[in-house]
Amino acid sequence: MNAPLTPGMIKDLNVPDYVRNARLIAWVGDMVALCKPERVHWCDGSQAEYDRLCQQLVEAGTFKKLNPAKRPGSFLACSDPSDVARVEDRTFICSEKQEDAGPTNNWTPPAEMRAKLEPLFDGCMRGRTMYVIPFSMGPLGSPIAHIGVELSDSAYVAVNMKLMTRMGRGAVEVLGDDGEFVPCVHSVGAPLAEGEQDQTSWPCNPTVKYIVHYPETREIWSYGSGYGGNALLGKKCFALRIASNMGRDQGWLAEHMLILGVTSPEGRKYHVAAAFPSACGKTNFSMLVPPAGFEGWQVTTIGDDIAWIKPRDGRLYAINPEAGYFGVAPGTNTLTNPNCMASLNENVIFTNVALTDDGDVWWEGMEKDQGRLPAHLIDWQGKDWTPEDAQAGRKAAHPNARFTVAATNNPALDPAWDDPAGVPIDAFIFGGRRSTTVPLVTEARDWTEGVYMAATMGSETTAAAFGAQGVVRRDPFAMLPFCGYNMADYFGHWLKLGEQLKAAGARLPAIYCVNWFRKDADGKFVWPGYGENMRVLKWIIDRAENRAAGQQTMFGVTPTYGEINWTGLAFSPEQFATVTSIDPGAWAQEFHLHDELFTQLAHGLPPALTATKAAMAQRLEALAH
Ligand code: OXD
Ligand code: MN
Repeated sequence: MNAPLTPGMIKDLNVPDYVRNARLIAWVGDMVALCKPERVHWCDGSQAEYDRLCQQLVEAGTFKKLNPAKRPGSFLACSDPSDVARVEDRTFICSEKQEDAGPTNNWTPPAEMRAKLEPLFDGCMRGRTMYVIPFSMGPLGSPIAHIGVELSDSAYVAVNMKLMTRMGRGAVEVLGDDGEFVPCVHSVGAPLAEGEQDQTSWPCNPTVKYIVHYPETREIWSYGSGYGGNALLGKKCFALRIASNMGRDQGWLAEHMLILGVTSPEGRKYHVAAAFPSACGKTNFSMLVPPAGFEGWQVTTIGDDIAWIKPRDGRLYAINPEAGYFGVAPGTNTLTNPNCMASLNENVIFTNVALTDDGDVWWEGMEKDQGRLPAHLIDWQGKDWTPEDAQAGRKAAHPNARFTVAATNNPALDPAWDDPAGVPIDAFIFGGRRSTTVPLVTEARDWTEGVYMAATMGSETTAAAFGAQGVVRRDPFAMLPFCGYNMADYFGHWLKLGEQLKAAGARLPAIYCVNWFRKDADGKFVWPGYGENMRVLKWIIDRAENRAAGQQTMFGVTPTYGEINWTGLAFSPEQFATVTSIDPGAWAQEFHLHDELFTQLAHGLPPALTATKAAMAQRLEALAH
């Protein structure tokens, strides 16, 4: 795209001698010529490098070092108020043909987008360092893993990538002389003029943001934001949007799913992958502590957000492509997620939480542990905060405040979390945040019905993305913001994979639809959730072991009250009815919303899904009469 690199354009590409991949070096040269950074730093992923960059971020004012007696090795960053969440309306899938992006993605023809981006990226890193960040999504060398290289002008991104991925020299070694990598270019979009210093501790472009994917050439270009999924390009951009394209072409799945291991007291182990939209409790579910009444049961974490799943020998094997957690802090405490709280004791990067007077962090939800609100805090925007502010509804932490932490901090980490072979999946769970309508748990009668349930899933929106919150929108497979191609084709891909596995004589994982979030007439959650979700997980295992018959409903198979282990929890049959009942009126309305989705996705929609819808609607009709 650019004139060849000349010695005058940059002083030195600084290529370390262990980098031998000619395509990588040439691409970095091109990008240096385009972005015109002051200097280039190749990240080796060492602890010394991480410590140096964190110290640099402290000196720049981006990081505050937290009190080492309270949170050793930990930092707090507070972002620009314009840069606090993923920007779905600025996220583009630029496939050659519009129909390949589909109606649920923003699309611009690639040539037009490149023409828009070229002037923005030209000189965008002036006065800054370009960090070359090689990373592996998945265990180094795993046949399920893939390599990416992110170029970023943000040291905050470089240190987050160190915690979130296998980053540095190891990834370069896997790449070797001629390995393939996904090129990811990221700029905060705030070049500095000669001699100019940053006037802010969170440089970004408050008004111009682009998160762009070119699926055919497997490229990612991100401009203007330094936050989370907009900037840590291994996560949503690569591991979901680009990887879903790779999966479609190569016969595997890239999913917005946690992966957990569950071991019975008899020592039988199962693996479950579960998809929920952003900020709906994936991290909590993946680290679940079984409640009283479940002595001897153990839940262990393989991943909390993304699963790459490939078929092998008639089974589906999953890896977590990430190596850390970028989780939502508010609401997390020792009651909701003790394992997560233990993971956050040291070596954590916090973003947009509040600062206590003794140099520690605080967020809404921690008062449940501490028994009171703190008397004084500095909120995520640097302002004083007292309990009166809580009364006025002003939050100390941003609702999408995050922690970044290495998976190895998690006391519930599964021994196989880093196994290059992955773990075999026994069941898939799909769940949305729904105050009404959708029952606590329903098992699909077959793969097609499960794909239907996942495809038509709805959920109330959360603070993880910009925009209105609490609005029910269809979020098929919890992938609405993350599927990098036409959603109708994506449903077809799931159906095809099921057919292929069946034809090979495989036992397909069972598929479940869950809803932890039903409310009563007073607007209160009925199901206690968190660790108590073990009761549902146990029923799922009982189904796999043929220990529970369940009961047929118009939607699928649900547990009877007597099939759930209630030891240690007072939960009446009436309460159970409140979270499991099927209201024919609400379902007629729900099917209407399914129809709307299918109309939107009509082009290429698999007929098996419309047939499943018709059968369900018929059963509902019979129920109503
Ligand atoms: C995330 C998200 O950060 O889904 O995982 O928004
Ligand atoms: Mn997510």
